[in-house]
Amino acid sequence: MHRRIPTRNKTGWASNQLNEVSELFVAHCRNVPLPVLDIGAAFGLASLAAIEAGATVIANDLDPAHLAEIVKTNKLTLLPGRFPEDLYFPEASLSAVHASNVLHFLSGPQLEQGLAAIARWLAPGGKLFVQASTPWQKPFRAFVPVFERRRDAREDWPGWIENTRDFSTHRKLDQIPASLHLLDDLTLRRITEAAGLAVQDAWLYRRRDLPGSLFLDGRECAGLIAQKPELSLIPPPVQPITMTGLHE
Ligand SMILES: C[S@@+](CC[C@H](N)C(=O)[O-])C[C@H]1O[C@@H](n2cnc3c(N)ncnc32)[C@H](O)[C@@H]1O
Repeated sequence: MHRRIPTRNKTGWASNQLNEVSELFVAHCRNVPLPVLDIGAAFGLASLAAIEAGATVIANDLDPAHLAEIVKTNKLTLLPGRFPEDLYFPEASLSAVHASNVLHFLSGPQLEQGLAAIARWLAPGGKLFVQASTPWQKPFRAFVPVFERRRDAREDWPGWIENTRDFSTHRKLDQIPASLHLLDDLTLRRITEAAGLAVQDAWLYRRRDLPGSLFLDGRECAGLIAQKPELSLIPPPVQPITMTGLHE
């Protein structure tokens, strides 16, 4: 049965059912040569499914108490810390990055920094899987006209809400941070492409595990899949022509 598990640090709820994007991440993990990173792994639902699929997983979360609840297995590394500033991986060392229901806790500059880091960490051909909350959720319907006006004015971060209480009176607001960054497919696509990744798909949808209290119009969630381009065959630099010897 579907159940939402409240996070200990009041960053929303973790799901006990894989959403559609997480499922694609797990499918990708069936055949990966390098470790994969699960950002905001919480209690490890997607991380453990990825291990089951055959991957070696680095499970990251801001709250070490969440990670401590994950059943330890080999092929799992627990990595507490705040993405992006606390994380470091060598260039081209990951086969995939999964970020489900976590990027909407980051500011615009943190998102830019984070996407650039992910693009560095992924190996050529490696993939990014993102699931995030959009403004089209019932508790934030008062924010939708503000978001759409900012988006139409081409503001960089149309979904940034400094204080959620300015727009929502939802009774469970104290389970999320005061500031939130609701993201749409266009914003996700823009920042991902700016980081140098090729977006394969970016879409709005209603994830299967979304609680009914958030239903608005079917666009409650945003998904994105992107890939780091394979190394292009850049021809070697042409040897500079030297003038030496011309008059010999
Ligand atoms: C809403 S839960 C999502 C859990 C799971 N990924 C899912 O989709 O059900 C958000 C999780 O992200 C973590 N988190 C929030 N901000 C983070 C950050 N900047 N870096 C790493 N983890 C973060 C929280 O501690 C929490 O466990």
